[in-house]
Amino acid sequence: MSTLAYLKSFFKDKDVASVTPTSRFCVRRVCQPIDFSKDITVVEYGAGAGVFSRYLLQHMTDDSHLYLFETNEILYDKLQQIKDPRVTSYDQSVEHVNDLLPKDIIGQADFIISGIPFSFLDPDTKSSILSQSYQLLRVGGEFLAYQTSGHLEDSLQDTFGNVTTDWEWRNIPPMTVYQAKK
Ligand SMILES: C[S@@+](CC[C@H](N)C(=O)[O-])C[C@H]1O[C@@H](n2cnc3c(N)ncnc32)[C@H](O)[C@@H]1O
Repeated sequence: MSTLAYLKSFFKDKDVASVTPTSRFCVRRVCQPIDFSKDITVVEYGAGAGVFSRYLLQHMTDDSHLYLFETNEILYDKLQQIKDPRVTSYDQSVEHVNDLLPKDIIGQADFIISGIPFSFLDPDTKSSILSQSYQLLRVGGEFLAYQTSGHLEDSLQDTFGNVTTDWEWRNIPPMTVYQAKK
């Protein structure tokens, strides 16, 4: 069960930042801007045990692709239970996202979904991840994030200049949901 994997990981690894997977309400809210009728490329930061990944795969076309990043070993192992030819997964930090991904998707990704705890990062690392994310997306592509507070809005505004926020209370804890468009 995923909650057990989160609990085990949470006490050993502060970067997990959650004791339970994101709720289905929050998953739907974050993914609401995605047009699943098209072939899309999605990159997920901090996939955890795969609650977003599974939702995305259920809705994505056969020719879409999903790239997953997850640093926690226990959660990465859980993620490996997803057997789908549309998935490529990395047990590495998104600090190096654009060096790790295939070169031909840089500037071509349609969506980035991010649950990594940006508030734990030092300013340089945060700024580097956001600027790599901007480069990774195509024009019109979107950075969709969920965080436990509204702290990310100013940094997203600085990088993307086009940000809206929303609130999903049906999650433990309630989440601020961000949508930033390139
Ligand atoms: C709040 S949890 C979200 C997990 C899952 N996506 C969910 O919605 O239930 C954040 C996840 O990001 C991962 N993470 C934290 N920092 C990371 C980094 N720099 N690169 C990749 N994954 C990271 C953590 O291990 C954790 O699984």
